[in-house]
Amino acid sequence: MSLHIVILAAGQGTRMRSELPKVMHRLAGKPLVQHVIDTASTLSPAGMHLVYGHKGEVVKEGVQGSHLHWAHQKEQLGTGHAVAQALPEIPENSQVLVLYGDVPLTSSATLQSFFQLSTGRLGILTVELEDATGYGRIVRNDQGNVVEIVEQKDANEVQRKIREINTGIMSIPAGKLKEWLPKLSNSNAQGEYYLTDVVAMAVADGTEIVTSGPEFLHEVEGVNNRIQLAALERAYQRQIAHQLMINGATLRDPERIDVRGELSTGQDVEIDVNCIFEGEVSIGDRVSIGANCIIRNAQIADDVVIEANSIIEDSVVGESATIGPFARLRPGTELGPKAKIGNFVETKKAKIGEGSKVNHLSYVGDAFVGQKVNVGAGTITCNYDGVNKFQTTIGDNVFVGSNTALVAPVDIAEGATIGAGSTVTKNVDKDQLAIARGKQRNIDGWQRPVKKS
Ligand code: UD1
Ligand code: CA
Repeated sequence: MSLHIVILAAGQGTRMRSELPKVMHRLAGKPLVQHVIDTASTLSPAGMHLVYGHKGEVVKEGVQGSHLHWAHQKEQLGTGHAVAQALPEIPENSQVLVLYGDVPLTSSATLQSFFQLSTGRLGILTVELEDATGYGRIVRNDQGNVVEIVEQKDANEVQRKIREINTGIMSIPAGKLKEWLPKLSNSNAQGEYYLTDVVAMAVADGTEIVTSGPEFLHEVEGVNNRIQLAALERAYQRQIAHQLMINGATLRDPERIDVRGELSTGQDVEIDVNCIFEGEVSIGDRVSIGANCIIRNAQIADDVVIEANSIIEDSVVGESATIGPFARLRPGTELGPKAKIGNFVETKKAKIGEGSKVNHLSYVGDAFVGQKVNVGAGTITCNYDGVNKFQTTIGDNVFVGSNTALVAPVDIAEGATIGAGSTVTKNVDKDQLAIARGKQRNIDGWQRPVKKS
């Protein structure tokens, strides 16, 4: 039986108090509904259907997924009505898995086994809660068989004591849905077409009903307000942190790390508190990362040391390089092995060779720097004339004195030396000394101005 996944995302999410549709709020840097789509994709469904309503354009623009079918629900008349909007696109002989766009952390394994168990039957993913207030209760008979789901607002005193609840994730044969959904009535406490009413219909026509549960409770928790969003963000981050530690990274505080993308770490990596990793980041063995670093789309080789408060973006860092504290590597930075970028140094589109040092207070952009180069404090590559960008090339073993302006385009050949305070506008040949600064004059017996009393 082929699998079709229906993701319900039409609710507007009033309690978020937001311009943004609820499912577009981000968890780990990604919209809630994108988490659901990405996990659902791991089941390789024959079709994936997104039921949208409120601000559909924003949702359409903000999510990615191949073969997504969009089903518009004009008015939010209930979960049964929502599923019905997607049904015309779903072939009769398939199994429909219903997910919620605001329940982001269901694991692929949970969905996989739930789907396997429920194919050809009616499946309900359930959990037992200490406090089941607000949820649909799973009503069972004396034999323990499910007989119906009753919503909180429609439940009697006895039913409200039931602790087993409907997580909302259900699996239903499409053929049955086509039969049952048109028969739903909205004569209930909320005046809605409840998807959950199909359970009693299944009982009536002898369709087998199965239930299973997730491994962790947070897998079925939804987001209705920003407090729940924050709680699920932490649950997610804790899980990532545990995986990093299992893989051999020491986290100074696993509660104070944020991964918004894919982070891979080697062995004996040390990460101090409050670091943020975004996009795709790979980190080699024995790398040490100080507090408050932000690393986005970067490859960090073995034995690199990144000191506190450094920001690295779209960059490649070679073995045993050292960075920071307070360094900023902007896109297109490539550091060779043992290169050193010190405090208050900014680099951009800069290739910096093995063993070269830019230790303090410099800007190196649109530059190629060879090996064993020493760039003194306060060196600036003047790469921009207000319109165009120009390249600076610095050969191996060059020594650039402090407070130097290298006005690009300019080539400094290998072995050259630049005197401190120079403004270099012309190329410098191999092993030359270039000095381009005002000559010093010393005046004897200089009288300073005196204050009149
Ligand atoms: C639903 C279930 C309840 C379950 C609970 C779990 C029904 C009738 N009730 O209740 O048994 O315990 O979820 O959280 O199914 N949605 C639409 N269109 C609509 C209505 C809802 O797309 O017309 C979407 C919402 O955006 C949301 C999901 O469906 O993602 C659930 O809707 P919600 O109103 O939160 O359902 P509950 O009343 O909480
Ligand atoms: Ca809900």
